[in-house]
Parts: sequence; C-alpha cells; structure tokens
Amino acid sequence: MPDMLPLCKWLEQSWVGGGVRESLWLFPAIETVHLLGMAAMVGTATVFDLRLLGWVQRRERVSELAGRLLPWAWAGFVVQVLTGAILFSSEAVKVYGNPAFRVKMLLILLAGVHAAVFHWIVERDVARWDASAILPMKAKVAGGVSILLWIGIVAAGRFIGFV
Ligand code: HEM
Repeated sequence: MPDMLPLCKWLEQSWVGGGVRESLWLFPAIETVHLLGMAAMVGTATVFDLRLLGWVQRRERVSELAGRLLPWAWAGFVVQVLTGAILFSSEAVKVYGNPAFRVKMLLILLAGVHAAVFHWIVERDVARWDASAILPMKAKVAGGVSILLWIGIVAAGRFIGFV
C-alpha cells in the first residue's frame, strides 16, 4: 500500500486544513453538515433496503421507490464525501492512523461494491418482481447486507474520536 503520510501532512498544512483546525467553530459546523448528509443518505437508503426485505412500503413498486429515494441517498453521500474530506484535511495525520477511520473507509468501499453488485446483478431482472410484496432471496440479502454495512459505517464514524 502506498505511504499516504506525506499527502496527509500536505493536507494538514494546506489553507483548508489549517483554516478548519485554527477556527473554533468551523470543525463542528462542517461536522453538522456531515451528519445532515448522513441523515439524508442513511435515512433514504434504509427505507429502500427495508422495502427489499419486504418490511415496509410493500404495495410500492421497487423501481418507483428507487427513483424517488435513491437520488436523495446519492446527494447525501456527495455531501458526506465533500465535508468528510474537509474534516479529514484538518487532522489528517492523526485520523489516517485511526483504526475506526480505517474500518469506516473499508466499509464505505464495501458499500460501493455492494451497490454496484446490486445494480448489475440483483436489479437485472427487477421487471419480474418489481411489484411483488415479497421479493426474491437475493433482493432480501442485498437489503439486509446494505443495512448492516451502513450501521457499521455510522458506528465506525462515531468511534473515530474515541479510539
Ligand atoms: C469519504 C467519505 C468520508 C470521509 C473522508 C469522512 C471523514 C470523517 C471525519 C474526518 C470525521 C471526524 C472524526 C473526528 O475527529 O471525530 C467524521 C465523522 C463522522 N462521520 Fe464521516 N467521513 C466520510 C463519510 C461518512 C459516511 C458515509 C458516514 C455515515 C453514513 C459518516 C459518518 C460519520 C459520523 C457518524 C461521524 C462522527 C460524528 C461525531 O462524532 O459527532 N461519514 N467523518
């Protein structure tokens, strides 16, 4: 794995990293936006995952629900990546070595792989089960795995300051 420490040092010394670190209110303000992004992302993604599990919105077509909810999930995720990068830049060297941060990044990567697999494999024959209340096992597994991944990411994010 390439050594990222020089990049972390450079980030910390940049005007963004330094500005956030030296301000009393910038870090908590940006973290607030980070958490609003999380609410939009995890909230909407979870409703969709629960639909895949067949626990909520059973009368709604999966494709319609996806069309209404997933743009919010993506928008929330973009907000999180942008605000997360700014928070990171202010404490990059310390956070880079933090085990909870590493677990969080790994789980985000897995969530990305999971979303891609869902899109290409599970969703491929969505036309057949779109309107069913009870979905095939692979859709349920996709929903369950997604919920577990997002719980892990939220928990790892919370642990960063404590380990
Ligand atoms: C590439 C994307 C992301 C980066 C670089 C990032 C980075 C960070 C950083 C640096 C912190 C501050 C850690 C601290 O000093 O306490 C933080 C906090 C946090 N992040 Fe992220 N994050 C990202 C995405 C996410 C996602 C996708 C979630 C959840 C779905 C998330 C949930 C949290 C939570 C819960 C906290 C703790 C807030 C608190 O302690 O009040 N982050 N993140």
